Amino acid sequence: MINRNQAWDLLTSKLSNKNLVRHCLAVEAVMRELAKYFEASADKWGIVGLLHDGDYELSRDDPTKHTLLMHGWLTGMRETDPEILSAILSHNFAHTGKNPPANKLEWSLYCCDELTGLIVAVALVMPDKKLSSVTPEAVMKKFTQKSFAAGAHREQIALCEQKLGIKLEDFISLSLSAMQSISPELGI
Ligand SMILES: [Fe+2]
Ligand SMILES: [Fe+2]
Repeated sequence: MINRNQAWDLLTSKLSNKNLVRHCLAVEAVMRELAKYFEASADKWGIVGLLHDGDYELSRDDPTKHTLLMHGWLTGMRETDPEILSAILSHNFAHTGKNPPANKLEWSLYCCDELTGLIVAVALVMPDKKLSSVTPEAVMKKFTQKSFAAGAHREQIALCEQKLGIKLEDFISLSLSAMQSISPELGI
């Protein structure tokens, strides 16, 4: 399995937008916590989170290529772990038609991907614009306010209840604290 340093080098060789790299770091941090919750491999789930959007810039003009480029880069590096390859593909099944989420790892990525964006948006409207000022209650309030950060798909986040068996409030708390633990890297 690709190690964290190799994954980081791959990610940063393919992404130039700092906010996209930060998004990948946020998803990595949440995925590691979710792995611990499910008693799975935090290293593996973290790699999936870190790399899930690594081809975003190079597939921007054609969303049907998003995740397929990363899949190709990883297999080119002799990555063979089926869980990693499948999970990365699964989060863009809506555009590629490949590998719809089918297990806890894949549903975790699918649900937390959108939530990390909502949490960043909530931090940015805090008086000090800091993640440390955000509370789960503040995120919950903005979750119900559909016009706020409308691009963060609420129905995708809310699937945590049905697909992961985690209450929305708890999913928000876990994700927020994971992101707060790396706030210097996230720059907020
Ligand atoms: Fe993506
Ligand atoms: Fe993403």
